[in-house]
Amino acid sequence: MPRPAGEYHVPALAKTVVEILRPGEPGIYCDLTVGGAGHGRMICDRLDERSVFVGTDRDPAAIEEASRKLKGVRCRVILRRAHMEDVGPILDEVGGPLRAALIDCGISSDQLDRGTGFALDDVGALLDMRQDPGQELTAAHLANGLSEKDLADLIYRYSDERMSRRIAAAIVRARPLETMGDLVGAVRRSLPGGYRHGQDTMRRVAMALRLATGRELEQLETALGETIQRLEPGGRIVVLCWMSLEQAVVKRVFRREKLSRKLEILTPKPLRPSAEEVLQNPRARAAHLRAAEKLAAAEMDFGCGAHGTGPERCQGWHF
Ligand SMILES: C[S@@+](CC[C@H](N)C(=O)[O-])C[C@H]1O[C@@H](n2cnc3c(N)ncnc32)[C@H](O)[C@@H]1O
Repeated sequence: MPRPAGEYHVPALAKTVVEILRPGEPGIYCDLTVGGAGHGRMICDRLDERSVFVGTDRDPAAIEEASRKLKGVRCRVILRRAHMEDVGPILDEVGGPLRAALIDCGISSDQLDRGTGFALDDVGALLDMRQDPGQELTAAHLANGLSEKDLADLIYRYSDERMSRRIAAAIVRARPLETMGDLVGAVRRSLPGGYRHGQDTMRRVAMALRLATGRELEQLETALGETIQRLEPGGRIVVLCWMSLEQAVVKRVFRREKLSRKLEILTPKPLRPSAEEVLQNPRARAAHLRAAEKLAAAEMDFGCGAHGTGPERCQGWHF
């Protein structure tokens, strides 16, 4: 079902995001994937002039839409076009620790409907898959330029597709691929007769190319580290994932930070949209929300033995 007319993107689990991030207290709030600022507007509506909202996105159309959507809010708004792995210096420029941070992974409805090769059924769309039109690498570069082995490895790594070698061989035979239709045709021809999950396989292969083109998982991992490091004690982070590989990254980073006593995980299990939300916004059905809270320094273990020993008191110790 397409998005409602005039809507850039309908934000998923919006009420839950706001409940967890608790915007209100003065501070710095950031949204690393601001998109059309659906979530962003709900956050800003709860902030006054004492707060700053930093929104970043690598898609210039998203920044334009966010700037329109955030007109008239009371807090100070800073919007920057940036890949999420590069947010560290932007946040440092704003100064001060973060009170709350949001990452809503993946693509917006606007991008999906824009015909830039994100939608599987958009067979005429160029095999592009860039969110940042200034980026050189496209999905077509990968499909046409990689060796058969590297292509098979890419498909396997980003989709777990067990027929990755066979599919890569078919893609190489079909070169040059220009459109999503070319990709779908090549994958379909590679499937053995009677293979019942053709649609799933094509979706997984397209997803693998998308993840690699946008370096989505690598960027997510870096961005999580950069953001968590800048959260103030008690500050919260919410991440919305749309596929299992993204979830695996978030789970791994959250667990690592929990083990080093920097984070408390607020969602032992990911939160999902209600049936009612999915009915209203079918694209929300794959959303998985994970959240965590930064621990106060006093709760962190700085390696001095006793739980609750601050860094100053650790001076002279080996850690
Ligand atoms: C699901 S949409 C976000 C929608 C937004 N929460 C809203 O309410 O409108 C995801 C956005 O993240 C951006 N994005 C995805 N990966 C990114 C990355 N690695 N760096 C920067 N932006 C990214 C996309 O361009 C897209 O606009």
